Amino acid sequence: GEMAEQAAAWWRDPTERARLLALAQEATPRYVYHLPTVRAQARAMLSLGAVDHVHYAVKANTHPAILRALAAEGLAFECVSPGELRAVLATVPDTAPLLFTPNFARHADYAEALATRATITLDALHPLEHWGESFRGREVVLRVDLGRGLGHHEKVRTGGNGSKFGLPIEQLDAFLRLADAHQVTVRGLHAHLGSGVLDPKHWGEVYAQLASLAERIGSVAFLNIGGGLGVPSHPGEAPLDMAELDRVLRGVKAAYPHYQLWMEPGRYLVADAGVLLARVTQTKGKGSLRYLGVDTGMDSLIRPTLYDAWHEIVNLSRLDAPAQALYQVVGPICESGDVLGTDRRLPEAQEGDVILIAQAGAYGKVMSSRYNLREEADEVILD
Ligand code: LLP
Repeated sequence: GEMAEQAAAWWRDPTERARLLALAQEATPRYVYHLPTVRAQARAMLSLGAVDHVHYAVKANTHPAILRALAAEGLAFECVSPGELRAVLATVPDTAPLLFTPNFARHADYAEALATRATITLDALHPLEHWGESFRGREVVLRVDLGRGLGHHEKVRTGGNGSKFGLPIEQLDAFLRLADAHQVTVRGLHAHLGSGVLDPKHWGEVYAQLASLAERIGSVAFLNIGGGLGVPSHPGEAPLDMAELDRVLRGVKAAYPHYQLWMEPGRYLVADAGVLLARVTQTKGKGSLRYLGVDTGMDSLIRPTLYDAWHEIVNLSRLDAPAQALYQVVGPICESGDVLGTDRRLPEAQEGDVILIAQAGAYGKVMSSRYNLREEADEVILD
């Protein structure tokens, strides 16, 4: 397919850069979110003509201003815990559709969700075997494991051998018997194979597989083909081709036209909208390496430590200076894994320089901790 033109990151714009430098003078570490980018990503999702509902997977970033902006664009919301459900219910208009898609949740968690307008997803026999009365007369979504997983790292694959998600297809008949016994209707089928997928064909395959299962079930009205839409992180990596995704989805929908098509992206909507600002604390040469120390690390952004994720790092105070140093960019946490970026070509840095860690809008703040009792990064919205 044709390669979409990659928009220059919003934070490279000289006006935004000046705003970011001023924000970093006030306080670091600090997350900054650019709402126009969130809206642009939402519109790219909504331009997929074959998709009937886009649910934002709020686990990626639960900032209320982001939830409100996405609700205003007409998105629905996917939650995985009572806490996420409460945050969404307290923030978005009560017309926005909600999905509750937990994994190994308590009976009480389902009971809480059943008392809201959320559509509930089940992915095991246990809930109907043991708590069937709670679900009597309800419509549910069934999450299945299609037998394979994929994604940017083995820890973000959510299907196939060794994955705890989804009902194995061999148990489908047992699930349907339990549903029947409790007058539960399977109205939707769901699969989500993993996170950080850049091949548009993937979602067409999932739709086709779910559709053929749906033909066996009869009561299914919609197919939720998951999220997982990737954003390129390394320089030169091609973005997900949305025009091709549109063609793929129109194609499979024409083959199985009886179902609504739902998706639930998280990262795609918010990753590029967020940056993490930090300041240089110290530099050090040790052995053959040079370390650039900043005032936060895996406590604010754990993705490089956990998944070897690559985030672009720039010295915002010296964006146009020649990149003459080779640095290991590290935080202040007492762990050797506290590395934000390895072997980065950057300008020679000084104490106090503002360092920007890009693409931190998804799975950044929400996965942060107060390890070592460090001060949490705060969050600022740019609109
Ligand atoms: N739907 C389900 C059922 C999911 O489990 C997830 C993510 C999503 C949707 C949204 O996936 P996304 O579109 O954001 O890829 N912390 C990892 C990602 C873990 C995602 C877990 N599930 C990371 O930072 O890469």
